[in-house]
Amino acid sequence: MGPVDLLLQQLWEDYASMNKQAGVIHKALEQRGEKIVNDHVAFRTFDIPKVGLPVLAAPFMALGYRDAGEAYDFKDKKLKARYFKHPDPDKPKIFISELKVGECSASLQKTVRGLVDQVPPGREGDGRFLVSGVPWKRLSWKEYQELLKESEYAAWMAAFGFRVNHFTVFFNGLKTFPDLAALNVFIKGLGYALNASGGEIKGNPRVFLEQSSTMAYPVPTDFADRKETIPGCYYEFARRYPAKDGRLFQGFLPESADKIFESTHFRPASGPAQ
Ligand code: NI
Repeated sequence: MGPVDLLLQQLWEDYASMNKQAGVIHKALEQRGEKIVNDHVAFRTFDIPKVGLPVLAAPFMALGYRDAGEAYDFKDKKLKARYFKHPDPDKPKIFISELKVGECSASLQKTVRGLVDQVPPGREGDGRFLVSGVPWKRLSWKEYQELLKESEYAAWMAAFGFRVNHFTVFFNGLKTFPDLAALNVFIKGLGYALNASGGEIKGNPRVFLEQSSTMAYPVPTDFADRKETIPGCYYEFARRYPAKDGRLFQGFLPESADKIFESTHFRPASGPAQ
């Protein structure tokens, strides 16, 4: 196994250990005779230099990944994102987003900067940082709720830290489903809810990309003053279509990605996703 695959395997193990649905879905697909190809792997972070997007990208750059040269901006969620691709097209793309902390309230900034101040320096280029989890003292449940009110993304980061947010199955690599809707039926049949924000399928063939995702798997999580079960990581599915140049579209769609971010939301009526 080459160094890229080795890193990806470490990332998968960390992700699947926390997100039990990923392993179940993976296995169920394999039992149908599918061989799973990853489309992309996604990370979240804060745009503070010590832990910003370039710090998370560095281990991938060292293994031959390059910035794809596209920047995405999510104004309402105060996020920006970029993605990285490897010269070997079979390697998954790496999608990294970051919260624009300076655009958030003074109170959120204070909390987040307090967390990042606790991160040991010199993490850049270290692949282990990508699975380092929470390198700060746990927030209280109340502090978490305060973050959640303003930015679900910031609250997720505070609770789960540095680890994969989601893996994505490359639908085109599957052989036994006629379309993404059929895969969605299969996933729901396993008992997992899908993110229905903006419809279960985001995008369409005219924009060369269709995506769906589960709602994040609930994870018992430590807070300074108690333990609570909150939405953790989710699994995504992406079907790509040939763009005008005849080659499969490789980018992302801001409108769809905006809705996919909501896969870690608490479900309003019933609490955390089941
Ligand atoms: Ni994604």
